[in-house]
Amino acid sequence: MLITGGSGYLGGWVARLAREDWDVTATYGSRRVAEPGVIWRDVDVRDAAAVASLITGRRPEVVVHTAALNPGQGNDFEAVNVQGTANVASAAAAIGARLVHISTDMVFDGQRGNYVESDTPNPLTPYGVTKAKAEAAVIESGVDALIVRTSLIYGWRPTVARSAQWMFDAVNRGETLRLWADEMRCPIWVESLAAAIVELAGWDYAGYLHIGGAEPMSRYDFGTALLRFADFDTSTVEAVPSPSDELRPLDCTMDSSLARELLATPLPGVGKVLARSDEIR
Ligand SMILES: NC(=O)c1ccc[n+]([C@@H]2O[C@H](COP(=O)([O-])OP(=O)(O)OC[C@H]3O[C@@H](n4cnc5c(N)ncnc54)[C@H](OP(=O)(O)O)[C@@H]3O)[C@@H](O)[C@H]2O)c1
Repeated sequence: MLITGGSGYLGGWVARLAREDWDVTATYGSRRVAEPGVIWRDVDVRDAAAVASLITGRRPEVVVHTAALNPGQGNDFEAVNVQGTANVASAAAAIGARLVHISTDMVFDGQRGNYVESDTPNPLTPYGVTKAKAEAAVIESGVDALIVRTSLIYGWRPTVARSAQWMFDAVNRGETLRLWADEMRCPIWVESLAAAIVELAGWDYAGYLHIGGAEPMSRYDFGTALLRFADFDTSTVEAVPSPSDELRPLDCTMDSSLARELLATPLPGVGKVLARSDEIR
């Protein structure tokens, strides 16, 4: 297995779980990693020749493509998310490898929610637009691909996920936290998502698959649940509407029943995960 973005939050967990059963090569960009049990390579996915040389050299059976820029991580979305994905997909296609591509619920416009795999993307944000274009690039490459659309990723091992850390930092700075009460997602625990991806990697299932946590939640409910979990006082956290001057998809909840039917890996919601955290921590 070759994992792009092994230095990232999701990619790191895919590498950690996959190394039990696979020979794993994982890549990093700017953050050098040397976790054991994995062959580490640095690659910039924008560099088509470097990507092709890595994939041709390692000849993986399956490529798990997690590398991407997320909202708040600069402006190079088009080059990294679209061209980078096209580079990975065509290199995988060239050696007949299977591709598991990680996409997002943000490809939808959030007008309706409870999206199924056959619903048509209509992204509203710059990030969502590039992730939708990345999906199209995967299809266009002709690679044998599974496109996994997932939601807000959270977790606390080996570090607290970005989706929670920014809130913890704000509260620690004494700021009043205002969380959107009208934006709905299906947050997913990174360790269950990574386990699902590893389970799927060995199959020949192709097409789209929605993998969200079982509990649809607003950003406010998600945030306050994580803050309470980390023993923060949530009495000053304010529930507010998302900004009216920004076009955002409001209800990006996904129907993940197909994934639940197919997978042995459970995909619990936030409440269940946090309630069991003492066994997991
Ligand atoms: N986080 C979420 O809530 C969320 C929700 C839905 C979907 N997703 C999708 O899930 C995937 C993983 O997200 P994540 O939260 O794990 O992201 P992350 O922690 O920010 O990791 C991103 C990874 O991409 C790598 N990367 C960035 N630019 C690169 C480049 N030019 N060349 C090579 N590698 C590059 C980073 O490498 P370095 O750090 O070493 O530079 C890092 O390994 C992404 O495809 C994302 O779109 C995430």
